[in-house]
Formats: sequence, C-alpha cells, structure tokens
Amino acid sequence: MAIQEEILKLKEEKNAVILAHYYVRPEVQAIADYVGDSFYLSKVAVDLKEQTIIFCGVSFMGESAKILNPEKHVLMPDMEADCPMAHMAAAEKIQKVREEYDDLAVVCYINSTAELKRHSDVCVTSANAVQIVKALPNKNIFFIPDRNLAHYIAEQVPEKHFIYNEGFCIVHEYMEVEEIKEAKAAHPEAEVLSHPECPPAVLAMSDYIGSTTGIIKQAGITDAKEMIICTESGVLYELEKRYPDKKFYFTETLPVCRNMKKVTLEKVLHVLQTGENEIFVDEVVRQESRKPLERMLELSK
Ligand code: 13P
Ligand code: SF4
Repeated sequence: MAIQEEILKLKEEKNAVILAHYYVRPEVQAIADYVGDSFYLSKVAVDLKEQTIIFCGVSFMGESAKILNPEKHVLMPDMEADCPMAHMAAAEKIQKVREEYDDLAVVCYINSTAELKRHSDVCVTSANAVQIVKALPNKNIFFIPDRNLAHYIAEQVPEKHFIYNEGFCIVHEYMEVEEIKEAKAAHPEAEVLSHPECPPAVLAMSDYIGSTTGIIKQAGITDAKEMIICTESGVLYELEKRYPDKKFYFTETLPVCRNMKKVTLEKVLHVLQTGENEIFVDEVVRQESRKPLERMLELSK
C-alpha cells in the first residue's frame, strides 16, 4: 500500500484529522484535511469533531491547538520542528515594559511559545494583526516577538505608539533586496507579493503585503500573470494548484523554512501508528495562554 493510502486508512481508524500549514512539503499538504495560514488553522482547530489532531507545522501551532482544545490529543510529526522566532522575546522584558508604560497592550504574534502568550494581552497573526491592534483601546503597544511585523503594523496604525522587540524570522529576514531586483529585471511584468515578516526595505518594493492566505488570494485577484513571491516557497504548491495559468518566481536564494520541512509523510504515518509526540501544556500555563488566543478569535470575528 502506498504511504498516502496507509495514512488515510489509519486516520479514519483512529478518528484523526490532519492540519497542515502552507509551508510544509507539497506531499504533506496533499494528504491534509485542512491546509491554511496560522489564523485559519487556529480557527479550524476549535471546531473539529475528531479526537486526535495531527498538526503538520511547527511547535507553536500544535501548542496553540492544544491550548484551545485541551480534551483533544494533538500530535506533532516532528517534535524538533520549532520556529526560532517563537522564543525571541522574554517575560522579564514584558514585565519591565509594563512597569514603564501606562495604557499598554502586550500584543503577541501567534509565532510564540505558550510561556510568552501567557504574559500577553492578546494574540494576533499576520492575517488579523492590523484589525486587532486598531480595535485595542490602548495607546501603547508592545509587540512581540517580530520587529518586522511590528513595523508594518505601526505604519498601518499610526495613531498607536509602538515599543519594539528584537525578534525576527530567520527565513524572511534574509530576503535580499538585490535578489528581488534581479527577479524584477528578469520578469519586468511581475508583481511582488510579500509576507509582513520581511524587512521594511523588501516591503517597500512590494505591490501587496499579507499573510500566506492573503498572498494566495491576491494572486487570484490581481490581473498580473507573473508574480515574485517573497515568502517561504511551500506556498508554491497551492499557488500552482489554484492558478495553473500564472507564473510564480522566488528569489535566487530560495526561501526555505527548514523546520517546516522536517514534517514528512513517514513521520505523519509514524505518529498515527504509535500516538507518539503528543503535546502537553502545563494547566496553569494553558489557562493563562488561552485568554490572549481567545481574545484574538473574538476580536477578529
Ligand atoms: P502565516 O500566518 O501567514 O501563515 O505565516 C506563518 C509563518 O510562520 C510565517 O513565517
Ligand atoms: Fe518561523 Fe519563519 Fe519558519 Fe515561519 S518561516 S515558522 S516564522 S522560522
């Protein structure tokens, strides 16, 4: 039996459901029940009837699913698939900023550990960050961990005062302006579609900025037939599936998230067979980190 068939058969037998982010390998996206951006996946996780969730993504995604669904089993195909940015902030710094500023909201990008979420007032993803920050009553915003996303939101919501944190995504941070210029020179008709985790200089030369789902939708909305995609290259699978007549290019240094690529079909099958790699979150941490996640879901309705 092909591995895909084995996975689908076991998934039924074990009453499991497979969630996958757009950055995982194409063959993993192909066997998933739900594929999407971080926001979509966190919403979907709340309404599932299956008892076991196989989360094909990085740790903070599985952890968020567990925080919102404590009664379910959440299994990660690879426990080492972690997002380095999720650790790039500190509870002590949050405490310090809280002491320094009145009228402050600590806004936590969902790409963060439960430990950081529990010290925050609200979570956001790149799909809803502008909407949520605008809706907050507070004047001062301490945005963790991503400084690039923070700068992008600050531009969109100039009425707020931002305090920045020095976190970044190791994939988007190194997207090179020169390489985008080269791609534009080779494809002068192409529009540039970028993720807000890219540095400001990359965003400044972009025709569209949005989450992975935003980029995929925009590729269908625009009349452009060619696009330079400034985000992790896993999105190509969905882009080509939806728009076979359009052409998509990346920078010469292909943006690859090595952590997302750790998820393989073999590992998905293994956790289905064994029930290994289950995520557990300490109950106090879970209760406290659930609040900012629920507030995000509420504010982005
Ligand atoms: P999205 O929320 O746009 O899916 O992005 C997640 C991510 O990890 C970006 O690097
Ligand atoms: Fe984290 Fe960047 Fe990978 Fe997204 S692409 S999971 S932010 S390392």
